[in-house]
Amino acid sequence: MSGQFFALEGIDGSGKSTQLKLLARRLEEAGIPCLTTCEPTDGPIGKFLRQVLIGQVKCDSRAVAPLFAADRLDHLLNKENGLCRAVERGMTVLSDRYYFSSYAYQSVDLPLEWVIEVNRPCAQLLRPTATLFIDISPELALARITQNRKRTELFETRDRLTRTREQFFRAFALEKDRENVVIIPGDRDVDAVAEDIWRTVSTLLSSGA
Ligand code: ADP
Ligand code: TYD
Repeated sequence: MSGQFFALEGIDGSGKSTQLKLLARRLEEAGIPCLTTCEPTDGPIGKFLRQVLIGQVKCDSRAVAPLFAADRLDHLLNKENGLCRAVERGMTVLSDRYYFSSYAYQSVDLPLEWVIEVNRPCAQLLRPTATLFIDISPELALARITQNRKRTELFETRDRLTRTREQFFRAFALEKDRENVVIIPGDRDVDAVAEDIWRTVSTLLSSGA
């Protein structure tokens, strides 16, 4: 029996990590233990990417997308805690970001179709049961980010957040025949968003998606 895999997506500050923790807790309470994870990973490629994201290391944009895809392949396949094996063994896995983050963020500078092709091996290895996209306005996202962070990252400007959100929707339209994307309105209080996410996930789990 294989497990389920849910990817949480959204622009920076949309509430993914908050909602991931709440969803994990609810699943545990329902007797469904889950593995929670995030991208970039804390593996060697992910660590390098974080240096790129804060501007410590300069890197051509054409190198950034393949690096994220490489980090993702390691995330999927590595022997110690690869996601593919966890799902094969029946675990429920939740990830804060997956390949739609690459589609949206990297295609601000590069052709979206190319970024999708770079990630094709990942999509073939593990497609999410559902991609839960927490949709908030870039203005609210930026307000949350600047209130709560000591330093902001490369992509965290209003213009960039606006364009990234638009690219998410372009990617959803392009991939609609292959992917199960659920849009969760995120300009609401934490509990209302959590309730919506729980309804979606529990419905998919009980339908044996
Ligand atoms: P992300 O992982 O998408 O960047 P976070 O979960 O870290 O987002 O949330 C960003 C900030 O906004 C955090 O300080 C968090 O406490 C706050 N936050 C998250 N969801 C909400 C919400 N629904 N309403 C108000 N603040 C929120
Ligand atoms: P992080 O601080 O973990 O974002 P957050 O906590 O707000 O979700 O940093 C992840 C950053 O990396 C974020 O700005 C989006 C970017 N990113 C990509 O550009 N491509 C990708 O494939 C992934 C996974 C993330």
